[in-house]
Amino acid sequence: MHLLTILSTAILAPLAVIAAPTDPTAVSEIVKRENLCNLKSPPVLCTPNASVTVEETALRAYKFYRAFVTDGDPRTMFSLIDNVYIQHNPGYTSGPQAIWSLFCAGRKIGTEASTSWCFDASTNMSYAQYGNVDRWRWVGGCVHEHWDQRERMPAKEQCYKLNTTGVTLP
Ligand SMILES: *[C@@H]1O[C@H](CO)[C@@H](O)[C@H](O)[C@H]1NC(C)=O
Ligand SMILES: *[C@@H]1O[C@H](CO)[C@@H](O)[C@H](O)[C@H]1NC(C)=O
Ligand SMILES: *[C@@H]1O[C@H](CO)[C@@H](O)[C@H](O)[C@H]1NC(C)=O
Repeated sequence: MHLLTILSTAILAPLAVIAAPTDPTAVSEIVKRENLCNLKSPPVLCTPNASVTVEETALRAYKFYRAFVTDGDPRTMFSLIDNVYIQHNPGYTSGPQAIWSLFCAGRKIGTEASTSWCFDASTNMSYAQYGNVDRWRWVGGCVHEHWDQRERMPAKEQCYKLNTTGVTLP
């Protein structure tokens, strides 16, 4: 979550809204891009559950990437973060509260075409590439730990292949 990326996204965000009406999904995108900055804290966090399967975790990792990068959906994004959120970026303290103000406005960072994601089931790490690469460790079906400096995407073969048959993705 590079500050520069966040800032440039903030500048570009109004253009995206103007361009939206040509896109058939525009209405749902605008709905997703809730501005929740009137709330002092994330409305819902993730409760860790040791029974959550690897497959479900992979699906959640994809939803998290969508919420963070392509949709700008703070409600969904924070509903997948636990209340610990160990932060390795020295600019922020740990805990979801420390990053709430960065994301509460619901800004999109990129499109699926220009960014990528990965869930590595052998490490329970997920990744998002959007200029910078962020890495998160999942515990009990929740985002538990975060790194965003000098990270690299794993090789494609390491990435979990979602079974999207019969699943309604957001
Ligand atoms: C924990 O996850 C399992 C599997 O997804 C689910 O059946 C169970 O209801 C969950 N428990 C709680 C307390 O949410
Ligand atoms: C990853 O998480 C699953 C539960 O979702 C757990 O069974 C497994 O041991 C974890 N793997 C690692 C390497 O931590
Ligand atoms: C994918 O999910 C569908 C629907 O749940 C299921 O019928 C199918 O067997 C799954 N495929 C694989 C490869 O797991």
